[in-house]
Amino acid sequence: MTWGLQNRVSRLMKDGHTVMLAVDHGYFQGPTTGLENPRKTVTPLLPYADSLMLTRGVLRTSVDADQTLPIVLRVSGGTSILKELSDEVVTTSMEEAIRLNASAVAVSIFVGSEHEKETLANLSEMVNAGERYGMPVLAVTAVGREMARDARYLGLACRIAAELGANLVKTYYCEDFRKVVDGCPVPVIIAGGKKVPEEEALRVAASAVRDGAVGVDMGRNIFQSSDPVAMIKAVRAVVHEGKDAEEAARTVRGSLPAR
Ligand code: R5P
Repeated sequence: MTWGLQNRVSRLMKDGHTVMLAVDHGYFQGPTTGLENPRKTVTPLLPYADSLMLTRGVLRTSVDADQTLPIVLRVSGGTSILKELSDEVVTTSMEEAIRLNASAVAVSIFVGSEHEKETLANLSEMVNAGERYGMPVLAVTAVGREMARDARYLGLACRIAAELGANLVKTYYCEDFRKVVDGCPVPVIIAGGKKVPEEEALRVAASAVRDGAVGVDMGRNIFQSSDPVAMIKAVRAVVHEGKDAEEAARTVRGSLPAR
């Protein structure tokens, strides 16, 4: 790793772990629940995130430029929930990511989907550019509706991402998750997925970290929580302090709904 690339990766981590706050959902979902007004959602959560994952449009309009939190810039997209989701292109150039002072760029890959090859080409294009400028690339393993979220499939997608040169991979937690981590030679973080009860989401995060994930890139289970600030604090307790889900939920008891 060049110094710049290593420096950017280390900005995303605290003691080898990370809580990335994902608020990029609007790039294909529009004003999704909890993110209707991105500035309102994001502002109170910033002090508790290690980095913020979002598109350039929301970054420029909804986050003040004096903010020092590392930015993970989503650079693939061009589709909507109304069409085939795998039909993505690179929407944002590496030069723009540098202008925006991003600490990493994020590209989705859709292994097994209709446009698998194009999405792997998008990832490769950004890895080549990232190598040129010292910009880490986070590969997001998007799962098509027809795909099983099991260790075999996620292991395949994560390994392909790493083989193409991604510096970090984001995937989903699953049974036998350790196999996914063991087969992926770069750090793995997990997405939160659809909103579930708070303690369940914390349990998934705790299991993922126990099984080798370096952290989470979590969105809906934080910003759709009845108390997003309490929830992100609990996620931090799991990822950074190694607390189990019950203990983490207890630290914010009173704010989070009881089981
Ligand atoms: C997915 O397309 C986006 O990249 C999200 O950032 C990612 O899925 C994480 O968000 P959530 O925890 O809501 O799944």
